[in-house]
Order: sequence, then structure tokens, then C-alpha cells
Amino acid sequence: MTEQKTVHLADYQPYTHVVDSVDLTFGLSPTATRVKARLSLRPNPARPGRHDLRLDGEGLTLISCTVDGTPAAASVDASSLTLFAKDLPDGPFTLDTEVEIAPQANTALEGLYMSNGMYCTQCEAEGFRKITYYPDRPDVMSRFKVRIESDLPVLLSNGNPTASGAGWAEWNDPWPKPAYLFALVAGDLRAHSAKFATASGRPVDLHIWVRPGDEDRCAYAMDSLIRSMRWDEQVYGREYDLDVFNIVAVDDFNMGAMENKGLNIFNSRYVLASPETATDDDYTRIEAIIAHEYFHNWTGNRITCRDWFQLCLKEGLTVFRDHQFSGDMRSAAVRRIEDVVTLRSRQFREDDGPLAHPVRPESFVEINNFYTATVYEKGAEVIGMLKSLVGDGAYKRALELYFDRHDGDAATIEDWLKVFEDATDRDLSQFKLWYSQAGTPRLKVTDAWENGVYTLTFTQKNPPTPGQAEKQPKVIPIKVGLLNPNGDEVVPTIMLEMTRAKQSFRFEGLAAKPVPSILRGFSAPVVLDRKPAPGEHAFLLAHDTDPFNKWEAGRALAKEVMAEIALKGTPVRSDWLDALAAVTFDDTLDPAFRALCLRLPGEDEIAQTIHAMGRIPDPAKIHAARREMSGALAIRLGDGLARIYKELDDNAPFSPSAAQAGRRALKIAALQFLTRRDGGKLAASAFARARSMTEEIGALAALLDAHQGQAELISFAARWGRDANVMDKWYALQIAYAEPGDAAAVADRLIQTTGFDWKNPNRFRTVIGALAANHAGFHHRSGAGYRLVADWLLKLDPLNPQTAARVSTAFETWPRYDATRRKRARKELERMLAAPALSGDLREMVERMLAAG
Ligand code: TRP
Ligand code: ZN
Repeated sequence: MTEQKTVHLADYQPYTHVVDSVDLTFGLSPTATRVKARLSLRPNPARPGRHDLRLDGEGLTLISCTVDGTPAAASVDASSLTLFAKDLPDGPFTLDTEVEIAPQANTALEGLYMSNGMYCTQCEAEGFRKITYYPDRPDVMSRFKVRIESDLPVLLSNGNPTASGAGWAEWNDPWPKPAYLFALVAGDLRAHSAKFATASGRPVDLHIWVRPGDEDRCAYAMDSLIRSMRWDEQVYGREYDLDVFNIVAVDDFNMGAMENKGLNIFNSRYVLASPETATDDDYTRIEAIIAHEYFHNWTGNRITCRDWFQLCLKEGLTVFRDHQFSGDMRSAAVRRIEDVVTLRSRQFREDDGPLAHPVRPESFVEINNFYTATVYEKGAEVIGMLKSLVGDGAYKRALELYFDRHDGDAATIEDWLKVFEDATDRDLSQFKLWYSQAGTPRLKVTDAWENGVYTLTFTQKNPPTPGQAEKQPKVIPIKVGLLNPNGDEVVPTIMLEMTRAKQSFRFEGLAAKPVPSILRGFSAPVVLDRKPAPGEHAFLLAHDTDPFNKWEAGRALAKEVMAEIALKGTPVRSDWLDALAAVTFDDTLDPAFRALCLRLPGEDEIAQTIHAMGRIPDPAKIHAARREMSGALAIRLGDGLARIYKELDDNAPFSPSAAQAGRRALKIAALQFLTRRDGGKLAASAFARARSMTEEIGALAALLDAHQGQAELISFAARWGRDANVMDKWYALQIAYAEPGDAAAVADRLIQTTGFDWKNPNRFRTVIGALAANHAGFHHRSGAGYRLVADWLLKLDPLNPQTAARVSTAFETWPRYDATRRKRARKELERMLAAPALSGDLREMVERMLAAG
């Protein structure tokens, strides 16, 4: 085991040497792969003086090491190889090493590993050190040449192919890059190919590589790739810069996908799609992730990060770009709402608990543990705020300057903010607090109407987070519109720029006291704390012109009602039912929007809301409240929903378009409520007639929600048993709809099902993740949910610490709950900590979570 060291941003120093080029030769073998590396090195002028050369390396068997052709005296330990300054030339020199590694034994899926007979790599963040000795840090950029020797038919690496023959292939990447962007793939693969010409006329061969038999499920990913390439040219002026762009789908992958230069590697579930196997949500995610990885070619690869503290420089910006892209391809309003739902359920939750950290952390133990919702999603929100503050034109100028000035650099957040300062003459020092202060600000709003003047007063509170007790006020862009009591908009959206702890804004010239629509488009990642005037939410749900806030009004009302029922046992409020009925039956509204309005807030989100009120959430009561609300909706909306269902149940040929997906979403929402009343007749027939996975899964979910569907579960498994990515949906649904008291037992039984491969990260995440997402089941007072999750984390950890550590965030909310639950959760966290060979990854997470309670 390697010792746990904390790394600090403040300790940054440039590397001692410059790597001008790297030549790698791989002799592939499952148990004894040989890796030869030739590095052209010279002392780094940015680090004057003579220095030892320390290269990272883990789990490597050193075969040989020479400097300028002469055997060198290297000092090797568990994490490095060092050549002492006294043994090195004071100018340029060549280092040759050869090591042996065993990809077949690599279960951590970091470095070079095997998945279903193919070789693949994952080097971000620090995986390259498991392949060869190298300065494995993003600010060391070099030109890579790669030779692969193997009998497998397809041999791929970064850059352009230069030569190949029987049993070998060579690749050359002309763009200097850090080691984390290195990739190699070898296997018996088939390509789905297309051609692309860049705006300036460069022809590019596009290939998506999959296992034989999957070629016919690549069309949507390819279409998404081509649209992404065009969009980045049109919107950001960024062209592709190699002759080929390869994407490979692999079944065993710790994350979603990876942006390796010219050779993106994807979790197969985010590539493969056909109408029969992929839901509309799958299509949406595939489009977004293909775009995300492609966009990294500029924001991440051409301009990379100086060190891992700057991770949000590439991730926040690239998420922001993929959100913009999805908004342009689909309904921008619907995408914004979905993105905010995700932000709140993942990032607000993280920001509110023991794992809260700034968008740019200042220290870490295991960098893999910082690929978080805060770095990604809040990182994207911060860029959205910056764009709102400077305006669209200035944003565009600043980005052009960023690409001009920093192409080829390993950059920092300071560099990023400086281009905005230079492009706008703005001082962004207060804005920078968004990068350094953790926690979700609470924004209290009050209003007053006096002598024809309307005043909005905002107070911001920045709550303490681990390691940050005191905070300063942030800059908050608050987009606001005002409506007349008759529903007309009297002040269209304007942006208020809040910079102080408490600040008022006055509006004059209004004839009557207006109704405010605050934080339009969710213009800042904050929690709004406003006591609405009676009927205000329903009024805004009916009249707001801002689609986000229209939805938000319904959401806020639903949350208020659910929290009231859970806390006080009040009946379901009819004003909520009436308001929702009005939106549901308004045929002028987009079906996708109406479907979103019909989706009730999640139980975890209500627990978060109740916790923010200073009360202790009771998962069982929240679950009952939500159930009661959906039951009441089913009764109130029933007949109208039957009409909607009939209208939408057409025979149009399948298209994954947003418009058709929206109609399907509303149809399925209707079906779910109708199934509560009809004993499952309609859903059973919908399941039997389903022509797409969206309809099939939608009908199955409706049945399970109404405690039906056993026969359909069996027929689903008979049909899809051999397709693991499809079967994940089958596992997840059963756990999601299990009764709270049974959820752990259902998950346990499913895991024991023959053929369940828990070592595969997708399978593990699906089942354990579904249990963790069944709020009342995971937090059941028996402690059975906590125990099962801990058991499985302990089982996976020795094989795949990275995935175990990620899934352990299931526990991050434990301090919210009552003493009994806290005691049970703490017991499981302590049990994990006591495990003899706990990985550093999981240990860091468990320690941080325990520190809170
Ligand atoms: N850079 C990848 C992305 O955001 C994330 C990623 C893929 C990753 N695989 C990883 C991060 C493994 C850490 C470890 O697109
Ligand atoms: Zn990314």
C-alpha cells in the first residue's frame, strides 16, 4: 500500500525537467506486457539548478534503465524511479526504460487493463504511472509516438496512424499533451465510420469501434459526434485538428467516458443505442457525453490544466459547453430544468454535507475523489454566472482571447479569469470567491410596496462548510422579471448584480404591486428563501413568461406541500392539485414541459429541504407523503390524463427527436397515474405493444409503481437477459420501486441472481446506486440498507477502489437524520474504516464523512 499524503495547491512547483518527446513500444500480452519508453529530456529552465529526475511509477517491474545508452543506477520504490542529479548530464539526454505489466490482473481499471478480451487504457487522473515510469502530471506536455505489437486486428492510439503491418501499428500525435490523455486500444473490433470535413476543409475520418454485433447501434452516437463538431465550429470557432477521430466503446469503465486526444474511450452504455434498447433519456445522455468528450479537444486537451487543483478549468467549462449544445439541439427550457434538477439532487446535496469542497479545492489526498458534482456541475454554473455578468458579446471575446493566449498551455483558474478581466476591464476578485468558497449560498428575499415604489431586498448567507467557518459575500447575478396582478409581464427579465451581504433594488413607475419572478433561468446556484404570498406559486405557474421559473413555481409549491404533509400530516392541498391540473391540460404548452411538471420532487430533495428548515427529516414519512400526493394526483387528473394518453398513443415511426421524446414523456407520465386506478390493464397492454425501450420501461415502471408487473419482469428478462446494459434498467427499477422495508432484501436477492457480475462498474453502480437512491429504503431505520451497501463497498474496494469510493457517497447525508439512523450509519462507516486493507480512496471518503458526525 502507498502512504496517504495530502497535496496542497500552495506547494505547486514546475517540474524539474522538460520532456521534448516520448516514444513508446508496447508488446501486448495479458500477463506480461512489455513497455519500452524513450524520453528525450532536458533540465527545465523554469527550475534553475541541478535536480534529481523523479518519475512516477506504480506496480511496474523494471527490466532495464539506461541514460544515453549506458545502464543507469536508478533508485526504485513503490511509487517512483529516481535518477540522481550527479548521474545525469547537465543538458539534454535520452532515458530508455523497459517495464513489464499484467493488464489481465488489473481490476482497478486504471492504467492498461483488459475488458472482454480487448486491451484499453484509462490514464486520467494518475493512471499513466501504472503503464511506465513518467512524470505523471498535467503540466508536463510532450509529443508521443506509439508502436503497438499484437496479433489483435485493431490497434489504436492517439493522433494519426503512420504505418502498420501484420501484428503491429504505429501512431504519431503531433500535439504535445500530458500523459493523462494517452490512450491505447487493441482488440477484435468493428467500426461504424463516417467522414467529416472541417470548416477550413480538412477531411477527417470518424470511427466508432465496438465489439462485433454492436455495429448497428452506433448511428446515434455518430450523428451526435458530427453535430458536436459542427457546433463547436459555429459557436466557438473551434475546428478539429487531426486526420482521424476514434471512439471506442468498452464494457468495463469507471466513469462515463474519457477525452484522450483523438481516441475517446467510452463506457459502452453511453455509445450504443437503438430504439429497442435505449430510452429517450439514454439518447439525451449519449448526445451530451459524446459532445462533452469532443469539446474537451479544445477545453482540456489543446488547453489543459496546470495541476489537478485546476480540474474545473476543463470540466466546468466543458460541462457548460455541453449544456449549451444540448440546449441548442433540444428544448433549451427543458434542458435547463433537467440540469437544475441534477444540480440540486447531486451538487446541493454534496455542498450541504461532510464532503462539501470548493469548485477549486486547495488540498486533496486522492485526486480521483475530486471528480465531483461540485467540480463539474457547480463549475459549469460558475461559468454561466460569469457569462450573465459580462454579457454574451464579452463572453465571446473572452473565449477567443482564452484560446489565442493559452493554446498549448497548462493553465490555471487565474489565467481563465484574467482573460475575462482583460476582455472586459472588470475586476473579478470578488467573483473568484465562487471558486474558493464551498457551500450553497442562501438568498433571502423580502419585498415592499410603498408610494408606488417596489423594493426587493436580498440577504445572502454563506453557510460554514468543513474547513471554512467564515465566508465573505459573493457576487450573485439575480435575473428578475415583474408581473402585474392580472398576469401580464410589466418588467421583462433584467439582471440585478448583488455584491453585498444585504442589498435592495428599487422599481419605479409601476401601477400596482407586482408579483416578482426571481432567479429566472436559475441565474445562480443558490437556495432561494422566500415566504411566498398566498397563491403566488400558483400564479407564477400559470403566468410566468420565463419557462424555468414557471416550472420552478410548481416545483416550489410541490415541495412545500410535501414537506407539510411529512412534518404535520396535513392533507394534500387542493390549490396544488388545481394548479397542476391547469398546466397538465394546457395544450399550448410543450408536452415535455408538462411531463416535467408532473414529476414530483424526489424524497431525498424533500429531506434536504426539511433539513434546511432546521428539522430532522423522517424518510418513512416523506415516502408516505410523496405516495399520497401521487395518489391524489391520479384521482384529480384521471379522466383528463386518459384523454391525453389516447391522443399521444399514435403510430408515428420512432424518432429520437426531442419533440417525439417529449410526447412519450407525457404519455408515460399519464400512464403511471392511470395505472394507479385501473389495476394495470392499460400498462400491461402498453408493455406488450411497446415499440421502443422508453415505452417498454415506462410501462414496466408504471406497473411496479402500482405493485403489479411480475409477469412483465419475467418476460423482460427473457428478452434482454444477454444485454447487460439493458438489464441494468431491470435491476434498477425493481430496487427503485421496492417498499422501503424490503429494498435491501430485494437488492440482495438480485445480486445473488446467477450471472450478476458485480465486478463490472456499471452493474455495481446500478444496483448499489439504486438502493442508495431509494431514499426510504436506504435510510430504513432497521439499518439494513446501510449494512448492505457497506458490505458491498468492502467487497469491491480491494478490486476497484475508485468505484467503491465514488459509490460510498451514498452515505454523505447521514448527519441529517435522527439519532437511531445516525448511530446505524456511523456503525457501518466505522466498520469500513476498520477493514484491514481499506484502499486509500475509500479511506479518505469514509474519514471525511465520519468527521461530520
Ligand atoms: N475526464 C473525464 C470526463 O470528464 C472523466 C473521467 C473519465 C475520469 N475517466 C476517469 C476521471 C477516470 C477520473 C478517473 O470526461
Ligand atoms: Zn470532462
